[in-house]
Amino acid sequence: MQVRSAVIPAAGMGTRFLPATKAVPKELFPIGDQPALQIVIDEALGAGIDHIVVVSSRDKPAVAQYFEPNEALLNKLDDSGKTALAERLRSIGRDWRVSIVYQDNPKGLGHAVGCAREAIGEEPFAVMLPDELMGSSALLAQMNGVCSSTEGSVVAVANVPRELVSSYGVIDPAGELSADGVIPVRDLVEKPSVEDAPSNFIITGRYVLTADAWAEIDALQPGRGGELQLTDALKAQAARSPFHAVVSDVSRHDTGNPLGFLTASIELGLTNPELRDDLRTFLANLQV
Ligand code: G1P
Repeated sequence: MQVRSAVIPAAGMGTRFLPATKAVPKELFPIGDQPALQIVIDEALGAGIDHIVVVSSRDKPAVAQYFEPNEALLNKLDDSGKTALAERLRSIGRDWRVSIVYQDNPKGLGHAVGCAREAIGEEPFAVMLPDELMGSSALLAQMNGVCSSTEGSVVAVANVPRELVSSYGVIDPAGELSADGVIPVRDLVEKPSVEDAPSNFIITGRYVLTADAWAEIDALQPGRGGELQLTDALKAQAARSPFHAVVSDVSRHDTGNPLGFLTASIELGLTNPELRDDLRTFLANLQV
């Protein structure tokens, strides 16, 4: 059972990046020469996914525009001999499919994911929060395999210091961690207090969910912060079906705030063969 579709919720206002997000959606901010959104899509493609469902907002038309072919631009690049670049632009959406759906009211992550139900249909699917960049497809590919072998949903988690748990969804493990980093889950709680958190394993922004999650998402009632929380739908799922977490040690970048975005740009720049050497020299000589 290969997961074919991924939902990328990208309808947020990007308030933490104002005024930059007044005109440009933060999912299109560049990391090197790539929009952050494309890096998340590449991660999905590397895990065998070939249908990307972006949940956008009508206030962010540039997100849909990124996927539309621009013949005039392609012709100009071809005419000026920039064929490799033209080829890169042509490859956007060529071997994979993109669907844009709209979330017109910001009612929470559970609601945003629910907007993708019709585009995906009754099959397992991934959810990828684009504020987090994972640096490789390995984690998602492993989660896909665990979903397939356990026939249940899977979340990615990270073990963090206790004081951080109240900003995240947290799992309640039902057993021991296996040698390959998989742990059974009996419950999930959205942003618990430090005292009440059932563990130090926070949900990071990757999920592989079985199709029965849709019914739980549709039935969501307002939870933490008055929002429809994806974690609450998973809580209901974990109460009656197999549910696992994969503890990830892949390097994870939180681009949801300006500092995280800057550090992600630097770290990913250092893995890019075209930027690496000059960037390293610049950083070594920096005197501020
Ligand atoms: C969302 C989820 C939370 C998860 C987090 C990961 O929270 O609701 O369970 O741990 O993403 O980044 P948000 O960051 O949208 O408040």
